Amino acid sequence: MRKRIQRIAVLTRDCSGVNAALRAVVRTADSMGIEVWGVIRHYEGLIKGDFRPLSRIDVSGILNNGGTILKTSRCRDFMTPEGQEKAVAQIKRHKIDALIIIGGNGSLAGAHVLASQYDLKVVGIPATIDNDINGVEMSIGADTAVNVAMEAIDKIRDTAFSLERIFVVEVMGRKSGYIASQVALAGGCEELLIPEVKDDFSSLLENIKEGNKRGKVSWIIIVAEGRAKAHDIAEKISSATGLETRVAVLGHIQRGGRPTAFDRILAARLGSYAVRILVEGGTDVCVRMECGQLSILPLEEATQPKKFDFETEAALIKILT
Ligand code: F6P
Repeated sequence: MRKRIQRIAVLTRDCSGVNAALRAVVRTADSMGIEVWGVIRHYEGLIKGDFRPLSRIDVSGILNNGGTILKTSRCRDFMTPEGQEKAVAQIKRHKIDALIIIGGNGSLAGAHVLASQYDLKVVGIPATIDNDINGVEMSIGADTAVNVAMEAIDKIRDTAFSLERIFVVEVMGRKSGYIASQVALAGGCEELLIPEVKDDFSSLLENIKEGNKRGKVSWIIIVAEGRAKAHDIAEKISSATGLETRVAVLGHIQRGGRPTAFDRILAARLGSYAVRILVEGGTDVCVRMECGQLSILPLEEATQPKKFDFETEAALIKILT
């Protein structure tokens, strides 16, 4: 017979909506008579045994806050078998029956290791501004990040238009062009440079020269940080065209701030569903919402590279500008 789950540990990375997911986990578990313990600083806290019990009250007033009340870190030690064994020993010591791990690719890869190699009950919740989890339509935090970047671009456009300048705006995404492509569409930007589409930079320069001949004087060019540095792009444009350029690097403002309604609702649904999946015996899976329907997928699949049709997004941007 399946052992009843009495205590769940939860780990979080940071992005907007993660606190809302944590609140949903704690309160759903509480309604089922299950204790939740928060792990401080993600895998680092798992290795060190930094666990704190979380009550309904502990997660009150956090729904609309960005970041994570549990703090987080990037932990290299957890990538080694020694680190993983220390973490498993702490899980046993704290009498944890199951884990919920909220985060992006690295977090879910770790979740898969714990479930598949150490036979632990683990459910992942996708949360990353990069929205690059395979098989997952929307991860928590991505909608807020795109909205934050879009609002910044709307403001930049005011100056770009008034002063007739070219702006190169660098958005987050070391390996992912998700924020860049979505914000370019939402913000009506003229050019997009992302890691996934290896287009010819000389065609961008030609487009600007051609446009300028027709009287066009202002552009907003979006570059994902993983593709190039905005300053380098701006310099190349001004030396090739003689036109004035300015740069804005949006940086970490995209990962923080009040989550959008979409992210709060997604987080509430996924957080609550993750607890129910664990209680029903689910493990080594991550939860997701597709077309409004909740479902699970194996972590093995979720940790493969995501296929996203960036070519079509880039083509649409070209048509619309
Ligand atoms: O994976 C989320 C992300 O925000 C990426 O978009 C970005 O490249 C990276 O994390 C930045 O990481 P850090 O905050 O550790 O510099």
